Amino acid sequence: MPRAKKLRVGVLVSGRGSNLQAIIDAGEAGKLDAAVVVVVSDVADAYALERARNHSIADVFVDPKAPASREAFDEELISVLTKHQVDLVCLAGYMRVLSPRFINHFHHRIMNIHPALLPSFPGLHVQREALRHGVRFSGCTVHFADEGVDTGPIIIQAVVPVFDDDTEEALAARILKYEHQVYPRAIQLFAEGRLEVKERRVFCKGSEAERAVREGWGYIQP
Ligand code: GRF
Repeated sequence: MPRAKKLRVGVLVSGRGSNLQAIIDAGEAGKLDAAVVVVVSDVADAYALERARNHSIADVFVDPKAPASREAFDEELISVLTKHQVDLVCLAGYMRVLSPRFINHFHHRIMNIHPALLPSFPGLHVQREALRHGVRFSGCTVHFADEGVDTGPIIIQAVVPVFDDDTEEALAARILKYEHQVYPRAIQLFAEGRLEVKERRVFCKGSEAERAVREGWGYIQP
């Protein structure tokens, strides 16, 4: 049953915003009990801001050079997100590490998407690292953000094969398609109040994900 009130999502971006677009599109297609209400960027000309404007969503640039410190910068982010009454913060290609103050303010209400099967290959250049390591499978992970880099409780993952002739670009493109499916799905699970975090595990109550695990599937594909 649709919620009476939609979850208000704020998205933090630094670049092209294809995950942002997937979230907006899922919302507009009626697949989410959630709507993106503000997009905030630390890069003035990030294409993601244009995507927000194209959908009449508030777009805000916060200049990282203006505030005196990382904490002061994050205070500005908190004030923008609070002004827009955001319930959930989604990091979508946001290239800064958040301060403990920010993480605590939105405790277990910040999601991130990462193009690898965490805890393998956190950080940057992940497809390069996956190819160098010779893994047969990679994928993507949506997780709650904590104070580390790509270390928070894992919500949902999708597994993608690695082929012998893959380049970094080819693997990234294959993974990106799955990112666009799992991120909206994780947001919907949150909107339905199905996600419960216990220590570093996330339980998806009554969800398809839980059923799939109970039925003994090896992994969950979006
Ligand atoms: C995605 O691969 C995401 O997993 C990573 O940064 C990239 C952002 O892409 N965190 P986009 O801006 O959403 O197109």
